Amino acid sequence: MSRKTKLILPGLDRQRLPRHVAIIMDGNGRWAKRRGRPRVAGHREGMNSVRSVIRTCGELGIPHLTLYAFSTENWRRPVREIRFLMNLLIEFLNRELDELHCQGVRIRMLGGRERIPARVLASIDQAITQTRRNRGLQLNLAFNYGGRRELLDAVGAYVNLRPRPALTEEVFSRLLYTAELPDPDLLVRTSGEYRLSNFLLWQLAYAEIVVSPVLWPDFRERELGQVLREYQKRERRFGGVKSVHA
Ligand code: FPP
Repeated sequence: MSRKTKLILPGLDRQRLPRHVAIIMDGNGRWAKRRGRPRVAGHREGMNSVRSVIRTCGELGIPHLTLYAFSTENWRRPVREIRFLMNLLIEFLNRELDELHCQGVRIRMLGGRERIPARVLASIDQAITQTRRNRGLQLNLAFNYGGRRELLDAVGAYVNLRPRPALTEEVFSRLLYTAELPDPDLLVRTSGEYRLSNFLLWQLAYAEIVVSPVLWPDFRERELGQVLREYQKRERRFGGVKSVHA
């Protein structure tokens, strides 16, 4: 375990960590603006936060991490910024894939494949294939992801099922992009914004939500430790009356 991860252990109960953490990584643009730099500088620094958070979750033994890296709404951004984000994902995978593979990380993608340039898809597919047998941290990159779109895709898949089973929560969950994953226990959003932004609309039904005021490029091990401690203070009742701990 790295020194930085060890530093966040005090006050954390490792038996009660969330099984699945989902993060809306927000505030890259503001981080850059405050420094008088172009927005993309914030995305680039945000990539370093991505690396830290993946490593720390892996070292803590958190089984699932989902990162909202590009939403269906992000296509409305200037073309240059979109191109930068696409290239940044390729750069990240080029640089980090071997290391992530050694750490036992398995990479999945949640989202539609349409509109994503072929070279980006090739890079994602390579990462998925190379890591598919890994049993460490299950890393889900929500990329070209939209929650409403996912729900519509699932409805479309359901009506085409032959034979069509009775519609239950279990049947429906299995038709989502997250079919094999447990629902997130903890949703983190950075930069002090209180919005779901079309993220995991079905899966977040019972998640604890922690909003961190810190902008994503500044969100590292220490900030992750803070949100995990906040999560552990919460009493989870899932609509019942008794506390249920993950
Ligand atoms: C939101 O900040 C962030 C994004 C839309 C992109 C997230 C991308 C990264 C963190 C880059 C690295 C990712 C990977 C997986 C390599 P914003 O631009 O909306 O910030 P603002 O609200 O301050 O403008």
